[in-house]
This record gives sequence, structure tokens and C-alpha cells, in this order.
Amino acid sequence: MGILSSKLSAVKPSQTKAMTELAESMRAAGKTIITLSQGEPDFDTPEHIAKAGIAAIQAGKTRYTSVAGIAPLREAIVEKFRRENNLTYTAEQITVGCGAKQLLFSALMATLDEGDEVVFPTPCWVSYPEMVKLNGGVPVAIPTSVGNGFILQPDDLRAALNDNSKWLMLNSPSNPTGAVYSASDLQALAEVLRDFPKVWILSDDIYEHLVYGDVEFATMAAVAPDLADRTLTVNGVSKSYAMTGWRVGYAGGPLELIKAMNTVQGQSTSHTCSISQHASVTALTGDQSFMNEFRSAFKARRDAMVTSINAVPGLSCDTPDGAFYVFADCRELLGNVTPGGKRLETDMDFAMYLMEVAGVAVVPGSGFLADGFIRISYAASEMELASACDAIHAAVTQLIDANA
Ligand SMILES: Cc1ncc(COP(=O)(O)O)c(C=O)c1O
Repeated sequence: MGILSSKLSAVKPSQTKAMTELAESMRAAGKTIITLSQGEPDFDTPEHIAKAGIAAIQAGKTRYTSVAGIAPLREAIVEKFRRENNLTYTAEQITVGCGAKQLLFSALMATLDEGDEVVFPTPCWVSYPEMVKLNGGVPVAIPTSVGNGFILQPDDLRAALNDNSKWLMLNSPSNPTGAVYSASDLQALAEVLRDFPKVWILSDDIYEHLVYGDVEFATMAAVAPDLADRTLTVNGVSKSYAMTGWRVGYAGGPLELIKAMNTVQGQSTSHTCSISQHASVTALTGDQSFMNEFRSAFKARRDAMVTSINAVPGLSCDTPDGAFYVFADCRELLGNVTPGGKRLETDMDFAMYLMEVAGVAVVPGSGFLADGFIRISYAASEMELASACDAIHAAVTQLIDANA
């Protein structure tokens, strides 16, 4: 189409959203579909936070705010970084945006020149490569393997970096694999980064609180304080506080970068919703005990899901340490022909087969730059998860029987 920019024509719409929307339209057409393609907790926003939002409306806190966010929220974020991450920022080094997503976008827009490279381990979140392209950069994928628990290996990082590299984007716990980088994993990457002083680090910590068992969350600026002056730490309330729709993300980093991100935001969205900002102050400073309930519910679901998926012939997955996704290998099942006569060539074909035959929506791994996998979200009720796993098992058994 003549109107579109060349930048946009290279950009793909989000496959996660596409699968969720397809599930919705099939449901509207009368089919029963269990949606396990979503990237958000199924819990409601805790009541005390929701009430703070209502109180903000009633108190007339409904006007424009400063671009970087209201002062009490930035103070609460400074305190959060200090308390939970041992990171020291001033309030000026903090900015608040319309979700972590916008902050990642603003950071890239503020820093990328045409042709600058942005490296990131894959499988990665669907939006990383597309955001880089939208901002004139070149996405550089560094594949990780199941054998390494989907953790970026230092030698692979070193091999990917060069004079054009501007950013390393790291996401832990990871969407889609659930992999969590330990402090020593990050130390090993920091060693490499010290040899590349021009490379900045973008630490996407949005799933910080969703780690299970004995695993401890770690973030680069705290693990390698000497790299803090070239690290942007991005976080938000979406996943940890079940507040995806409120659209509040935040970032801490070097002043010059934060100021530049504020310029981008000031000329685009201005700021995120004033009501959401007030509710987020309560989220960050109020009672945090519900998070233990979220965590134990997710852990129980994860364990049940991993067991069920590994019981499906031809599917396998390791136990992820964080987030709320299982990333299952479906390569053994590709090449089979469905009872309807269609040969399943790709993970997309397999995901469509699950949608049509099992009535379960998952996201194909190719959307995360990892062919041959599917991402299954366990942010759904135990009942839905059990039904979905049974249906997947039955659909795969049917597939295998048809090819026996
Ligand atoms: C890895 C990752 N980063 C960032 C985000 C964006 O979160 P927010 O809702 O704060 O924009 C998501 C949401 O799916 C995500 O999976």
C-alpha cells in the first residue's frame, strides 16, 4: 500500500495478540476455546489498589501530570529499587510510561540511529525485534538452547557484539521460556560486556516477582554496579500486581538517557493515566502479601502443567523457574498428517491444529524466533488448565493414531 512507510512494512503484528484475537472470534462464532495464549495474570487487581484508583478519580486526580510521572510515584519507585534490588536512583533518574512496553520503545527511539544493532537472546518476546525495526535499528538474535536452559551463553554474546552494537536486551524471567538468569549468569555476561564499553544493557525485569522455588531474581545493574551507568532497568506493575490494563511501567537509569526518553514521551503520549499512577503508588508502597498467593498459585499450576505436557506423546518441556509460561518442544510432532489430511509443517500449523481440534489457543514458538515450540500460558484457572491439557493430550493422540 502506497501510504505505509518502508519501516512499517518490515514489521509484523504481534502473534500473541493475533492468536488471542483468533480465539475470541472463534468463541464468538460459538466454539469453545480455552485461551492459553495470553500474557497476563488471570487474577483481579488487588482490591486495595483498585480502591486507590477509585479514590484518585473521586479526588479529582484526573488532570495531566508531569511527563516523567507524579512525584509520589517516582519516590515510591526509587524506594522499590532500593528495597528490592539494592539499586540507588534519584527521582530524576526514574521515568514512568504507558507500560514497560512504551519505555522499551522510548529507549530505543531515543538512542538508535539507522543501522545500529540491538542484540538479544532468542527465544525472545515477540515485540523486541519489531520495536528495534520500527526505530531504524537492526535486530540481532542470539539463539539459546534447551540444553542451556535457554540462558544466553557468554561466548555467544561475545560473538554477536561488534562496533555497531548499541544495546543488549535481556529479559529475566523470560517471556516465553520462563528462564531466570542467576546472579552468576549475569556476572558471566558482565565480563563480556566490560570488553565492549559502547554497548548498553536494557534489563527487562517485568516478571521480577514471578519466580518459584529457591531461585533468586537478579538484575544487571545490581550484579555489576560498574555497568549501571550504561544500564536501563525496566519494570512495571502489569504482571506482578495483576495490573496489565492500567498501563504503568517504569524505568531507572542514567540521567541523560532518562531525559531523552522523557522527550520522546513528552512528544508522543505525554504520560500514562493519572489515575493509574495514583493506584500504582499504593501498589508499590502498600501491602505486598497477595504476591505470595499469586506466586504459590502460579507455582502449583506450573508444576501441574509441566507434568501434563510431558505426559503428551511428542511434547516435552523443562520446568521453567519463572513467569507464567511453559515453552514446549513440539518438533517430534511436525511432519504428521492430521485426520483432516493436512500435513503439520510448522509450529504455527501445530498451534492451529490445537486451536481447531483441542479448542486450546497457544502461541507458536516462531513468533518468539524459536521454530518448533509452542508457548502455553498457565495464567488461567486450575479447571481450565486441566481441561486444556486433557484436550491437548486427546488431540495429539488422535494425530499420532492417524499417522500410525
Ligand atoms: C518480556 C516483556 N516485557 C515487557 C512487557 C510489557 O509489559 P507492560 O504491560 O508493562 O507494557 C511484556 C508483556 O507481555 C513482556 O512479556
